[in-house]
Amino acid sequence: MREVRNRVVIIGTGAVGSSYAFGLLNQGISDEVVLIDLNEEKAEGDVMDLNHGLAFAPSSKKIWRGTYSDCKDADIVVITAGANQMPGETRLDLAEKNTKVFKSIVDGVMAHSFDGIFIVATNPVDVLSYMTWQFSGLPSERVIGSGTILDTARLRYQLGEYFDIDARNVHAYIIGEHGDSELPVWSHANVGGINVNQYIQKHENQYSQEDLEPIFHKVRDAAYHIIERKGATHYGIAMGLVRLTKAILHNENALVTVSGLLEGQYNQEDIYTGVPAVVNRSGIKEIVELNLSDEEQRLFEKSVGVIREAVESVRR
Ligand code: LAC
Repeated sequence: MREVRNRVVIIGTGAVGSSYAFGLLNQGISDEVVLIDLNEEKAEGDVMDLNHGLAFAPSSKKIWRGTYSDCKDADIVVITAGANQMPGETRLDLAEKNTKVFKSIVDGVMAHSFDGIFIVATNPVDVLSYMTWQFSGLPSERVIGSGTILDTARLRYQLGEYFDIDARNVHAYIIGEHGDSELPVWSHANVGGINVNQYIQKHENQYSQEDLEPIFHKVRDAAYHIIERKGATHYGIAMGLVRLTKAILHNENALVTVSGLLEGQYNQEDIYTGVPAVVNRSGIKEIVELNLSDEEQRLFEKSVGVIREAVESVRR
């Protein structure tokens, strides 16, 4: 029986992996953080740099550069390794090459009898979450993709800016592919519990329905605009990964949008995609089924179809 160590192993210490490690340290989320990267020098440098900040951290922690053998006693293994989107590339363009990378990573981890939870962050995250589930043989509730956790946070931020309300009091979901075919669930979006459409009607001289679609486009296309400016995104996704890690290690039963396996929910089978889910120490406790409008259901099925096609192409 594995001893609970609150150990997070991060495979890939590029911009996302190292920002995630920095976030874990600053929020005091886990007791042990292990960094693994093909570039051992980089991983070693990150470990040294992070350890030098420990005196400022909210809790003590052990951080070291490790190997796959450290996964044996890990509670969570987070994979951020793989090729990144370049300007002009879609996330799906990375499917083929990152699936090959994942096969060797997951085989390497499972060779050490890993019995915890995988969190997948590399893109295309829905495809790679499905393939990690296939490669690892772990139960689906213990293979979780970051999915639309960041897209949902982006929508909450944009709506908060629009309505001049703290994003933490705005509740809205992006579901489907973490990518160009994702969709907002306007039917369930609310501002402090007031449905967003009613909120607009109550303030009709300030807000308009017509503004919602452009807000969604800002969310959907956010990564492209950031990549154009700084070459990659990493802070937002890292904070989403920290949130997800906290929900698991602190056994929160938190409701977050992640990429999870659908087994009949939303009339879909055998596919990973972004949906609201209850997450705790056992992984995904429950996939939450929203009553989607006909249009939302149509767009969701279209988005799932995009992922299914990409999965089929990498499995060929
Ligand atoms: C983004 C990356 C994580 O959306 O796909 O920023």
